[in-house]
Amino acid sequence: MAEQADQGHVQLPPGVNLDQPSVARVYDYMLGGYHNFEIDRQTAEKFAAVFPDFGLTARVNRAFLRRAATFLALQGIDQFLDLGSGIPTVGNVHEIVRQYQPEARTVYVDIEQVAIAHAEMLLADDPGTIAILADVRHPGDILDHPRVRSLIDFTRPVGLMAVALLHYVLDDDEAERVIDTFKDALPSGSYCAIGVWTYDDAPRDIMEKYAQMTRVLTTPGAPRSREKVMRYFNGLDLLEPGLVHGPQWRPDGPDDLLLDEPGRSVNWVGVARKP
Ligand SMILES: C[S@@+](CC[C@H](N)C(=O)[O-])C[C@H]1O[C@@H](n2cnc3c(N)ncnc32)[C@H](O)[C@@H]1O
Repeated sequence: MAEQADQGHVQLPPGVNLDQPSVARVYDYMLGGYHNFEIDRQTAEKFAAVFPDFGLTARVNRAFLRRAATFLALQGIDQFLDLGSGIPTVGNVHEIVRQYQPEARTVYVDIEQVAIAHAEMLLADDPGTIAILADVRHPGDILDHPRVRSLIDFTRPVGLMAVALLHYVLDDDEAERVIDTFKDALPSGSYCAIGVWTYDDAPRDIMEKYAQMTRVLTTPGAPRSREKVMRYFNGLDLLEPGLVHGPQWRPDGPDDLLLDEPGRSVNWVGVARKP
């Protein structure tokens, strides 16, 4: 089964199951990327048949990631830890932030071998950016990882990105523990950008059917209420405009996607500073 357009020319890492769709590759397909397989494309089309906004929500999420990374770089942050970074696609964190912080260093972390293989290929000649294969449910493995430590100085402010990630940690309490552990490791003046899947303000019947379908994925997700997502910001100063739907977080302008119907973005997002 060939990769779409096979632009990456990476060797498939051992253990990649081509018969099971993956979140990273389905998301890549919805963003117009090339690093996905037939099974991912078929799955994405099935999701979209039940949940027609599926592709739109991916783009709205990615737009939040871009605005949040830009904001952090403009605050002077020049080292980034991007958790659940996905397959490198248009507008990766290191590319965004280097427009404002040319020396910025970025660590990408993902549980998907394909995502990391592509990232390593893309980043081979870039000493300021690395990608590591790891599971955020084991934060210590990431925080103590020698390559992470070699790139990120945890005595200086860090930009922590956890965008469209924590709902893949299925257990509510574990998701909170995971983000708390990362927050604890950051020095004062660091920032966290967090985005989480919800269906608080979306049609419940459609979303429940869609959620059921996502169980086929290598990493299924569990939507979270606003109240639960709010807890991920405990101990931080949540910045204006607070915890909002993706399109509402510091939009670029009145033409931004879904600004008039923000609940359709099916996510809660926020950016906070560690005091
Ligand atoms: C929807 S993508 C989001 C990509 C990117 N953060 C963004 O917002 O554009 C979610 C990513 O989280 C990764 N992921 C899911 N569970 C994970 C875990 N336990 N540890 C690390 N990465 C995980 C998936 O492999 C996938 O690449």
